[in-house]
Amino acid sequence: MIISGAASQALAAALARELEEPLARAEYDRFPDGELLASVPDLASVGDGGDSDNSTDDTNTGTNTDRAIIVASTVSSDAHLELLQLQDAAREAGISEVVTVLPYMGYARQDKAFDTGHPISARAVARAISSTTDRVLTVTPHEEAVCEFFEPTATAVDAADRLAEPLPDDLTDPVFLSPDAGAIDLAETVRNAYGNGAGETDYFEKVRHSGTEVEITPSDVDVEGRDVVVADDIIATGSTMSEAVGVLQERGVGRVFVTCVHPLLANNAVTKLSQAGVEAIYGTDTIERQQSAVSVAPSIAAEL
Ligand code: R5P
Repeated sequence: MIISGAASQALAAALARELEEPLARAEYDRFPDGELLASVPDLASVGDGGDSDNSTDDTNTGTNTDRAIIVASTVSSDAHLELLQLQDAAREAGISEVVTVLPYMGYARQDKAFDTGHPISARAVARAISSTTDRVLTVTPHEEAVCEFFEPTATAVDAADRLAEPLPDDLTDPVFLSPDAGAIDLAETVRNAYGNGAGETDYFEKVRHSGTEVEITPSDVDVEGRDVVVADDIIATGSTMSEAVGVLQERGVGRVFVTCVHPLLANNAVTKLSQAGVEAIYGTDTIERQQSAVSVAPSIAAEL
């Protein structure tokens, strides 16, 4: 069965269709004191409440009690807690294998202690999740090394090739850029997935001065009159992308499309990008937004 966190319901449904597995109904409640209670009434049909007969099939729902796949992007502290509750509920019901899919793993970018006295937050959340799951999949984490923080096997699912799908078919002499050297593989994957690998790739040099301030040094590629796709793993505040797009506009670029796996689009990111002159923003459904133009369900399903 597929169980969804509140923030990942569309992706969980798409994955259920892809895998032809039943989608359980989860409920997301809150006590008067503010504490969360995420639950899965459909787990009642599993029946033995912890006395695990691992091969039971519920005849009414077709529920396979061997495996529960919990799909939950940890986009907030509440979403983290809700995931822990859903994993625990599955264990409590006697499901023998709990698989956690983190389409977007929150705190993954805090993968080191930035100063004395700081935590490694990605490790802290990975340890908590590890306590009640048997396997973890996460989509295009900022650094694959984050997988090592989990105790069970954790796999990074590469969904970059999905980003080519929503791009218009008529890009003029396209250039595929990444806003920093770290995302060049992603830009190359998008280029290769778009129209038989036609188009140049390059990257900008980026220096981050603060959470919202970045400085971008242009790439050498001539972009005048050409359509450009800027690809990154995540758009958070939109500072990186809007700086990059601003540089392109100064160089007489044609149309600019920005694309990312995780469209976090916090605060005024959409406005910043619109003001920078972006034609369209595309993302996947790892974070469910209006800009989620393509699903990563096939990429996840291929690993399950
Ligand atoms: C950093 O290296 C990442 O790949 C992204 O470029 C960055 O996290 C995007 O953040 P923001 O949208 O806040 O600039």
